[in-house]
Amino acid sequence: MRDFEIRHYEIIDSTNTEARRLSQVEGGDRLVVVADRQTAGKGRRGRSWESDEGGNLYFSVLLRPDFSTEKAPMLTLVMAYSVAEVIREYLPSVQIKWPNDLVVDGKKLCGILTEMHLCESKIEDVIIGVGINVNCSRFSEGLSDAATSMSMQLGKQVEAGVLLAAVLEAFEKNYREFCQVQTLSFLQGAYHCLLANYEKQVRVLAPGQEYDGLALGINETGELLVQKEDGSVEHVYAGEVSVRGIYGYV
Ligand code: BTN
Repeated sequence: MRDFEIRHYEIIDSTNTEARRLSQVEGGDRLVVVADRQTAGKGRRGRSWESDEGGNLYFSVLLRPDFSTEKAPMLTLVMAYSVAEVIREYLPSVQIKWPNDLVVDGKKLCGILTEMHLCESKIEDVIIGVGINVNCSRFSEGLSDAATSMSMQLGKQVEAGVLLAAVLEAFEKNYREFCQVQTLSFLQGAYHCLLANYEKQVRVLAPGQEYDGLALGINETGELLVQKEDGSVEHVYAGEVSVRGIYGYV
C-alpha cells in the first residue's frame, strides 16, 4: 500500500466536501485533505461543525476501498480507535463513545463524519472526516458544557501537525490490517478498553423506536450489542441511531 498524500488548505468550505470534489475530478485514493479553518464544516445529522478557530484539526481521508458497502461503516470505528490510540498518549482518560465520538471527562473532544458514495451499488469512495478540538479555548454558548479540547484538558497547547502525523500513521497501520481481515476482530479487545459505553446502561434512539439496555461491547462487524431488560440482545448498526448514557451524554 502506498503512503497517504496530504493536501493542505488554509481555509476551505469543508474538508469532506473538498475530498469529494477531488474524488470526482481526480479519482484519487489515500488522499488526506486538511484545513486550518472551514467555512461550512459538516457534522452528523445535518449539523454544522464549528471550524472558525485555528489550532484545531479538521481533516478528511479519501479512500477507494475494494470491498462491499456494508463494510464501510466499520471504517468509522477504525478511525475512532486510531485517533483514541494517539490521544491517549496525551490524555490517558480519553474514551470512545460508540461509534464516532471521542470524549474526555464526559465532554466531546472529537467527532467523525463518514460519507460513502456509490456507483452502480459499488463503493465509489469513502470519506472519513475528523474534527479534533486540539487547541480551542472557547466554544459557542450551546456547546460549552458538552465540548472540550486537548489544551483545555492539559493546560497547554498541543502541536496539531504532530498529532495529525501520529493519527495518520496509526490509521494507516489499522486500515492495512482491516483490509486484510475485513472485520474488526483485530482490535475488538483493545477497543473495549477504550469504550465509554462498555457495560454501561444506554438508551438507543433509532428511527421509530427507543429502548434502554446494557451495552455489552461490539461484535466483529462493529455493531453495538445491547441487552434489553427481557434478556434479548439487539445488534445496533452504526447508522441513524444515537446511543446515550441513561444519565447524560456518555
Ligand atoms: C460530528 O457531528 O460529530 C462529526 C463532526 C465531523 C467534523 C469533521 S471536521 C473535518 C471534516 N470536514 C467536515 O466538514 N466535517 C468533518
